[in-house]
Amino acid sequence: MSQRRSLQGQWSSRFAFVLAATGSAIGLGSIWRFPFAVGENGGGTFVATYLAAVLCLGLPLMMAEVMLGRRGRRNPITTMTLLSEEEAGHRAWRWVGVLGVATGLLILSYYSVIAGWTLAYAVRLASGATLGVDAASAAGAFSALRSDPLEALLWHSAFLGAAAWVVGRGVVDGLERAVTVTMPLLVVLLVVLVAWAARHGDLERALAYLFEGDAARVDPPMVLAAFAQAFFTLSIGVGALMAYGAYLPATTRIGGASLTIVAANCFVSLLAGLTIFPLAFRHGIDPAQGEGLLFTTLPLAFVAMPGGRLFGTLFFLLLVLAALGSAIALLEPAVAWAVERRALVRPRAALAVAGLVWLLGIGSALSFNLLAGLSFGHGDLFDSVEFVTSRVLLPLSALSLSLFAGWVMCRGASNEELEVGIGSRYGAWRFAVRWLAPAALVGAGAAVLVGWLGG
Ligand code: PHE
Repeated sequence: MSQRRSLQGQWSSRFAFVLAATGSAIGLGSIWRFPFAVGENGGGTFVATYLAAVLCLGLPLMMAEVMLGRRGRRNPITTMTLLSEEEAGHRAWRWVGVLGVATGLLILSYYSVIAGWTLAYAVRLASGATLGVDAASAAGAFSALRSDPLEALLWHSAFLGAAAWVVGRGVVDGLERAVTVTMPLLVVLLVVLVAWAARHGDLERALAYLFEGDAARVDPPMVLAAFAQAFFTLSIGVGALMAYGAYLPATTRIGGASLTIVAANCFVSLLAGLTIFPLAFRHGIDPAQGEGLLFTTLPLAFVAMPGGRLFGTLFFLLLVLAALGSAIALLEPAVAWAVERRALVRPRAALAVAGLVWLLGIGSALSFNLLAGLSFGHGDLFDSVEFVTSRVLLPLSALSLSLFAGWVMCRGASNEELEVGIGSRYGAWRFAVRWLAPAALVGAGAAVLVGWLGG
């Protein structure tokens, strides 16, 4: 076991780590992004590919990242430097940490804009506004919000400010308490919504859409999208798990903790799908419409159910809190770096990093209004940042993590951290990070590239 100690405190228990990492995993990725990714990629085939990716790539890579974090016990950039020296690897491995941290900040820049919309919806519902009574008015209410640049900036700032405030105070203490309350409550509300959607929506069509696949529809871009969704939703490849792993007690079993986090996250994603699709089909909403899917579908349930105003407000508020748990995890690696390497005090480091992200996010916030005409090959600025981070940077970061954990790190070191006691399952982990993940990622990436060049 590595004898290093974290400079920023330690989780009080395995449970605290699982809560924090689950809080980072469950956020907009499972509730907002999962349904629209399913919609954009045609349903069941994507869901099956995604679930396979979560199990075969997501779980082993999560274990790898947490393991590296605990071994290094520093911020992701320093950890990668330390470990590559220790394992006599090339100096360039240090850049894996930089890649992850930079990707995380880019993701947060637009994540905060979406979280801002969520916050705006909570406030609007609380004030009694109707956010749609049918598909057309719901789409209208959503586009009214997006197209106001000042409002977009206001909510983006409010959300990021809150995240910076929490991170500035220190992640290890507050997070545990917050997540213990919000996560279970969010799940309860989702279950109620699923029941409502099953009664009042088109459940049969939604089930067929979500769970009936067709192997003939598997193509490289869809597979890459499924990998991206798996990494995004499990918080893999941005240094977040590495940073949280650094605060993990030495005795915690990484495999079991990771499995719990993955299972909870999949459960919530499926609940989100089972809420959105029955309602979307019932109201004739296009599941392939992209990032507006959640915002144009759920208000139709809240307007129709008894007590819907209160319930809807609570739901969007909890979603904001869940997003906050993720935003904290996205900020933490860079903030830990600034504290450890630049000797900034934590509040100042949080302010500086959040300020940078805020600036980057302005582009995304204005993509739907002032900058709407600007095109970058993959749509507007928002779409382009989303695309580059999820389809290029996250897979690259995941690939380098698997290569480092599988090939550069010696067997003894990873054995020690993962506790070999688990026997054959550990062999499966090794196979996954050494062979399966690199082959799948390189294969899918190359196939997509060939398709582009050919097309
Ligand atoms: N997993 C988070 C979500 O689903 C997003 C996230 C990605 C958080 C990477 C931290 C790191 O919303």
